[in-house]
Parts: sequence; structure tokens; C-alpha cells
Amino acid sequence: MSKITAKTICDMKARGEKIASITAYDYSTAKYLDEAGIDFLLVGDSAAHVMLGLDSTTKITMNEMLVFTSAVARGVKNALVVADMPFLSYQTSVSDALKNAGDLIRAGAGAVKIEGASNHSLEVISRLVESGIPVVAHLGFTPQFVNTIGGNFVAGKSFETTLKILHDSLAVERAGAFALVLEMVPKESAEFITSKLQIPTIGIGAGNGCDGQILVSDDVLGRFDGFSPKFSKKYANLKEVMTKAVSEYAKDVKDKKFPTDAESFLLKDEERQKLENYKNN
Ligand code: KIV
Repeated sequence: MSKITAKTICDMKARGEKIASITAYDYSTAKYLDEAGIDFLLVGDSAAHVMLGLDSTTKITMNEMLVFTSAVARGVKNALVVADMPFLSYQTSVSDALKNAGDLIRAGAGAVKIEGASNHSLEVISRLVESGIPVVAHLGFTPQFVNTIGGNFVAGKSFETTLKILHDSLAVERAGAFALVLEMVPKESAEFITSKLQIPTIGIGAGNGCDGQILVSDDVLGRFDGFSPKFSKKYANLKEVMTKAVSEYAKDVKDKKFPTDAESFLLKDEERQKLENYKNN
């Protein structure tokens, strides 16, 4: 299978092929998710919650995102790696956005994601694309704006707000974004917006009318127990697998059942004999 690029993702919409996407934050998980056949892996700023135990995505830094991005990129052979630009890494100025996006690309990302469709965000998208950096836009509920929005709310619940998201979606498409994440948008609104765009929509809590889907891997794998959004689906219970395995290990240590000779390095007979003689003298 050849390396998936931003163009591959766009071509999938044209062919009517659904795009499967999920988040990743570390080398081994990224390797397994890639081997499982995921099209694009997002190094999401949701790492703030699931990797760092923070209570908001606004608290993760560029340096932390660079560490997660390079780890994921090293694990991946085929999937497109998209890195989230964290809070205030692109809102401050176009030149900050270019520098920070460039650092994420140098860390191994094939594209970056930014939230919103303000005039500033649109300018950032077009300048990044002009500079050779593919951009995924993110509309609907935009977690980096949680403090101004006032909470985690479904966006586009009325006809008027649906039209506003459509207007913003067309604007990010015109600015050059190659895909659009739609988060927590009613199914009918997301389906309508999807039908009006050339670029693929990737839904999270936006129904099955989007061109693709994305979820947070720790929710899908049952590794994060902080909160569980309505739109997510748990396909495994890694928390249970991990706590069971580690409690068995801890019990083996306390019961002196681990390590056995099989997990130890042993002296050769001759050296052991010398040691025994020394101990007995
Ligand atoms: O950070 C993240 O995980 C995201 C997804 C929710 C799309 O932005």
C-alpha cells in the first residue's frame, strides 16, 4: 500500500469511499492503528485530556504537540499524519502560524489542523497552503473556543446556525483546506453541508452523512475513563486488560513468583562455583 497524502483523502470523496480516521499520540499505538488500515491519524490536541490528564485542550503546548507528533510519525508507514495546531499557536499571527506549522511538518506531520473560520483563520489557511502545508479545517463545536462558547454544545442545531456553518465551510474550502472536521453537528445539518462541499467532511458526533469519521483512540479502545461522549463507541476495554495484567504482575512480585530463572541472567557453572566457594570461606 502506498503512502496516503492529502490528495488521496480528497480522491476518496470523489470515489465515494468512506475515510476512516482516529487519533494517535505515541509510537506503538500509531504503528498498530496504521497496520489496522486507518486512512489518516490525527495527533489531536485531545492529548491534553487523554495523555496529560489536563482538563482542557487549551492547556497543551506546541512543545508537547511536537513530541507526540514525532512519536506518531515514526510509527506510521501508510496513513496520513495530521497534527493539531494547539491553542494560540496560530491565533497570534500568520508568521507564528507558519513557524509552528512548519515545526509540526518537520516533526513528521503530512498536514496540520486548525479550528475556526474567522478572517484570521482563513488567512492562516491560505498562507499555509500557499507555503506547501496541507490544512484540515475544524468547524461545528471547536474545543479551543470552549471558554468563549461557555461549554461543550452541539453546534448548528437550528436552520440559521446550520447555514452559518455551511457558509464557514465554503469559506475554509475556498481558502484551500483539503478536508473539514465537523464536530458535534446534527446529522441532517452535517449531511447537507457535506453535499455542498468538494472537500471531504470528517465527522465526530456529526452522523453518518459525512465523507469520513474520526474518534479519539482512547475512547474507541476503552483506555480513557475520564468521560465518554455520546457520539463515541467503545470497541475494546483496554483499561480492564491493563489493570488485570498489571495487578497479576504486582501479585507475582509480592508472592515471589516473578522473576523466575527464565526471566533472569545466570552465571556460567564455573563462575557460579567460584562464587559459592567464596561465600563458603
Ligand atoms: O483533538 C482531537 O482529538 C480532535 C478530534 C476531536 C477531531 O480535534
